[in-house]
Amino acid sequence: MKQTTLLLILVSVFVSVNGQVPIAQDAFDGITANVWLDTDGNSIQAHGGQVQKIGDKWWWIGENRDGNRNICLYSSDDLYNWKNEGYAMRVVSTREMLDTDPYFKNLYGNLTRAEKDAVYDGIRSNRVIERPKLIHNEKTGKYIIWFHADDSNYGAAAAGVAIADEITGPYRFINRSRLHRLPDEEYGDEWYEAANYRGFARDMNLFKDDDGTAYIIYSSEENRTMFISRLNNDYTDLAVPQTPVGLAKNGVDFIRLFPGAQREAPAMFKYNGKYYLITSGATGWTPNQARYWMADEIFGQWKDMGDPCVSEPDIPYPAHLTFRTQSTNILPIDPANGKFIYMGDRWNSGNLKDSRYVWLPVFISPTGEISLHSVSNWDLSFLETINNVLGNLKTVNNK
Ligand code: GAL
Repeated sequence: MKQTTLLLILVSVFVSVNGQVPIAQDAFDGITANVWLDTDGNSIQAHGGQVQKIGDKWWWIGENRDGNRNICLYSSDDLYNWKNEGYAMRVVSTREMLDTDPYFKNLYGNLTRAEKDAVYDGIRSNRVIERPKLIHNEKTGKYIIWFHADDSNYGAAAAGVAIADEITGPYRFINRSRLHRLPDEEYGDEWYEAANYRGFARDMNLFKDDDGTAYIIYSSEENRTMFISRLNNDYTDLAVPQTPVGLAKNGVDFIRLFPGAQREAPAMFKYNGKYYLITSGATGWTPNQARYWMADEIFGQWKDMGDPCVSEPDIPYPAHLTFRTQSTNILPIDPANGKFIYMGDRWNSGNLKDSRYVWLPVFISPTGEISLHSVSNWDLSFLETINNVLGNLKTVNNK
C-alpha cells in the first residue's frame, strides 16, 4: 500500500465527528486545564463528576452540558484517555415518550400511570440534574446513581436516585426527595433554619466506607448547612427514613454540620483512619475559597482545617479561589498509600459545556494535613514522589 493511502485511511479512522484528531494522552494538564477530549475527539462532558475504579477500569460519571441533561459515563484504563460509554441515565422530553419510546418503555413500562407521572416530574428535560455520583453495591450487584435533582429554579432541592444492573446502564430513575432534618424543637431562629429550608438537598456526593457502609453528603438549609446521612444496605435510600421527623437521630443516622457556614460541593475521602471533607463556598459558578474538615468518625467531631490551597502569587489561578475551581470529588488512586487526586470544575458560566476539569495531586503532610498546589502537566508517577513531602513548593511541572 502506498504511504499516502495508508495515511488517508489512518486520518479518516481517527478524525472524529468534531473533526478533531484525538491524541493519546499521558499526563494531566492540572491547573492549565485545556479542553479534555475523549477517544472520539469530543470534549468530555462529565462536569460535577466523580471518578473511581470499578472492576478493572476507571469510570467517570458527570453532568452533560451539551444539549441535554442526560448523565454521561466514560471509561478508562489509564485515567488519561477516556472512552465515551454513552448516556447512563436519560432525561425524558415528553410524558408520552414514557409510553411510546422503546428505551423508556423498557425501563418504566410496568409502572402505574401515577408512578410514570412521578418519573416525568423528576427527570423531564427541563429539570436540573447535577453532580451525579455512582456507587456499586457489591452485595446486590447493582449500580446506583445519586444526583442533585431539582427544578429549573432550584426550588425542589432534592436528591435523585437511579439504579441499573450494568455499570453502563440504562439507569432507571427511582425517585427524588428531600433528606434529613432536625425535629422542629431543635432548630434555632437563624433565617436558614426556617421551616421551608429544612430537609433541602442540593450539592451532594457519596462516600463508601471500608466496611461497605455508604453515606450521602449534601448541602441543606438553603446551602448554609452540610448534612451527612447513612444510606440503606442497598444504597437506594436513606438508612432511616426522613419521615416521621425525629425517627432518624442527629449523630446516629445523620449528622448536621457547620450550620451557617455556607459550604457546597462536598468531596470526602479517608486516609490513615481519618475522614476528610473538602468543600467550596456557595457563589454559584464563580470560584471561591475551599475549606476542609477532618474527623475520626463520620458522625463525630469535625475539625475545621482551613483552606488546603497553598498560595503562589505569580499564577493566574489564585490559591484563595481554589485555583479557579470548585471541588467535585477526591479520586482515590491508592488510598492505603495516601495517593489521591483532587478533581475540580473550572466552570464557564457563559458556556457551561466548555467548563474545564482541573485534576491536582493531593499532598499529605506527615501529620495528616492536606494541601493543593499549582501543579501543571503532571502524571501518576508524581504521586510516588509527593507523599508526606511538604515544602515551599513553587509551580510544579514534573514532565
Ligand atoms: C453552584 C453549585 C453547582 C450549581 C451552580 C448553579 O453553587 O455548586 O453545582 O448548582 O451553583 O448556579
